[in-house]
Amino acid sequence: MNSFPRHLPSSTETPLRGGAVLRWGVLAPGQIAFDFVTTLHRNTDQRVHAVASRSIERAETFAREFEIPRAYGDYERLVADPDIDVVYIAAPHSEHRRLALLAIAAGKHVLVEKPIGVNAGEARDIAEAARAAGVFAMEAMWSRFLPQTTVIATLLEDGAFGDVGIVTADFGGVFEFDPLGRAFNPKLGGGALLDLGVYSIWFANFALGAPSSVTATGTVTSTGVDGQSALVLGTESGAQALVSSSMLAATPVTASISGSLARVEIDGPFVSPGGFTLHGVGASEPLRFDDATGFRWRDGLAWQATAVANHIADGLTESPLHPLDRTIEVLATIDEARRQLGLPA
Ligand SMILES: NC(=O)c1ccc[n+]([C@@H]2O[C@H](COP(=O)([O-])OP(=O)(O)OC[C@H]3O[C@@H](n4cnc5c(N)ncnc54)[C@H](OP(=O)(O)O)[C@@H]3O)[C@@H](O)[C@H]2O)c1
Repeated sequence: MNSFPRHLPSSTETPLRGGAVLRWGVLAPGQIAFDFVTTLHRNTDQRVHAVASRSIERAETFAREFEIPRAYGDYERLVADPDIDVVYIAAPHSEHRRLALLAIAAGKHVLVEKPIGVNAGEARDIAEAARAAGVFAMEAMWSRFLPQTTVIATLLEDGAFGDVGIVTADFGGVFEFDPLGRAFNPKLGGGALLDLGVYSIWFANFALGAPSSVTATGTVTSTGVDGQSALVLGTESGAQALVSSSMLAATPVTASISGSLARVEIDGPFVSPGGFTLHGVGASEPLRFDDATGFRWRDGLAWQATAVANHIADGLTESPLHPLDRTIEVLATIDEARRQLGLPA
């Protein structure tokens, strides 16, 4: 395609119902696990069969809330449960590698919350273990599986933007300061880059591929993590991405791709179900996409889950939409940004 399209391509998200149904095990029933299981049970045919917490009381409370048949007071017993097909890991970043390797060693497929590890080395360890075991592994980059993102992926594949010159993505919110909580605590993998920048950098990678250069500037908190930062990512093609993340400022959370033929502006928050506007260079009328489901915010976690279930049923060990090498590339960019900010990788 070398001209502005008359219509947007159809979205290609995995249907929420009617496909393969797996029995899920949930490790670490905190906030995101609650939101994940809420949308899973409300909006898909997928079912959580067991939950495990470090505390049997917390596991039983969570199990009662969602009518989950089995509750375990340690993570090891859940990964050993032969009736679990896939394990969803929802612990803080610092625990992802250990728990992913635990589940993979038990022969389980894994969906690991973002970021899959605290650096590229941890991501590589998980990828190598999953590949050696022949099990499916994916980072829970749910934004890639939203209807609007599937349309933008098709536009990219079709060359609808022409030569892409500039990509932008930001993700910032004001986090309550708690030196022990996972956002500000370096021991739990704290910092805006790992928590929020992972989305902005993923978006740049999705649009442009891995960067050939990284230039970062940022602010470090009293606890020794990045409170916020702005990155310029360069590519061999001469395109640049401007990406930012902040735990100190509430930003628009928007993203855009601008090229010689067209520009897409994704509504904020670009990471969750919503819409976008496609402007053609010289075209009088823009094209508009709006998510038709009415899903808001973390309802959108459902699409990645049905995609994972269908990938596994199809015998895949990685998602073509969010492969492990892309996860590793994004973490390598974060590693380099953290190095430039004077933080340990
Ligand atoms: N996709 C998204 O939109 C999204 C949104 C928010 C967070 N996340 C990701 O989800 C993960 C968890 O975030 P969250 O906000 O759900 O965290 P959270 O509410 O603090 O829950 C994390 C759970 O992990 C378990 N855990 C295991 N080891 C722990 C440790 N050393 N310290 C503290 N908790 C530990 C705890 O459960 P038990 O002790 O009961 O086992 C805890 O409830 C993070 O990686 C984050 O990036 C994703």
